[in-house]
Amino acid sequence: MKIEKVNQSRCDKDNWRDTEFGSVFSDHMFIVNYKNGQWQEGQIKPYGAINILPSLHSLHYGQAIFEGMKAYKGPKDETFLFRPDQNAKRFNKSAVRMCMPEIPEDLFLEGLFELLKLDEKWIPHGESSALYIRPFMFASSNFIKANPSDEYTFIIITCPVQAYYKGEVHVKVELDYTRASSGGTGAAKAAGNYGASFFPAKKAQEEGFQQLIWTDGNNHQFIEESGTMNIFFRRNDELITPPLSDSILPGITRDSLIKLADHIGIPCKEEKIGLEKIALGHRLGNITEAFGAGTAATVASINSITYKDQKLSFEDKSDSFARKLKTELQNLQYGRSEDPFGWRVTV
Ligand code: COI
Repeated sequence: MKIEKVNQSRCDKDNWRDTEFGSVFSDHMFIVNYKNGQWQEGQIKPYGAINILPSLHSLHYGQAIFEGMKAYKGPKDETFLFRPDQNAKRFNKSAVRMCMPEIPEDLFLEGLFELLKLDEKWIPHGESSALYIRPFMFASSNFIKANPSDEYTFIIITCPVQAYYKGEVHVKVELDYTRASSGGTGAAKAAGNYGASFFPAKKAQEEGFQQLIWTDGNNHQFIEESGTMNIFFRRNDELITPPLSDSILPGITRDSLIKLADHIGIPCKEEKIGLEKIALGHRLGNITEAFGAGTAATVASINSITYKDQKLSFEDKSDSFARKLKTELQNLQYGRSEDPFGWRVTV
């Protein structure tokens, strides 16, 4: 792997803390091109502009995918990743769905490890602070025939971040627009899924909500995801979350929480979650918590869900399942607890 280092680092310990999530980038990036049916030699170089032409295939047809991961600092200044192999595997599943080449897992992880070693000082210390890692791939041929691209570019960039949601999270159930439909690309981390969600999400923000709850594309009767996160509800003393399908992203945080819940004795069921049942359960006092789970947001308690003209409010209790699971998860991620799952990887 070729490595070209910056002459002078831009890392200033805290100058990014008052900025938007993911808007300050570390010194270097990892980049590797795919052409003539093969991945070329990877390179690390200073973070900076990439040369593109207006005919760049992905600008026209959106053959583009990404991942979200984080690097954490441990109590002895160690650097940890959390289940990085799962991100590499999911990336390749997204690639297959989007008719893009899979990237060898070794190349993905080797590039990432080298990058993290070089930009280690960018990994922030502190609760809920981490280095957010954004691996992505886009079609980089220059033609506008509507065929799959021949060439692709894979890049990893990183940025120091704090908590994704800082205040309360009030969400609205989306009953008109859909994030993903059966047979579509919802289970892939395809760039277009996010682009298409911005318009309904912006409308909800204008109405005072932080995010949306996405419902099924057929009848808008079942809950699928919340914003860019998977969703969980507490029903009496158990958790429920929608089962994976081709319209739900197989979240690594989601999977980890299901396993962690089981580990600490909280039953978690994967079942279809009807909106009417949630509204009724809330009225009867059986549905007492809702939270989202994702890499960027970790575990985000939902303060209220507006469904048609009903506002379902949730009390923020100190003994909530969300808090318990968030603590367990972060203890693992930041190296503060034993890791019986073998999920934590030291860089
Ligand atoms: C993540 O949680 O990593 C995501 O992909 C959300 C991102 C769009 C901010």
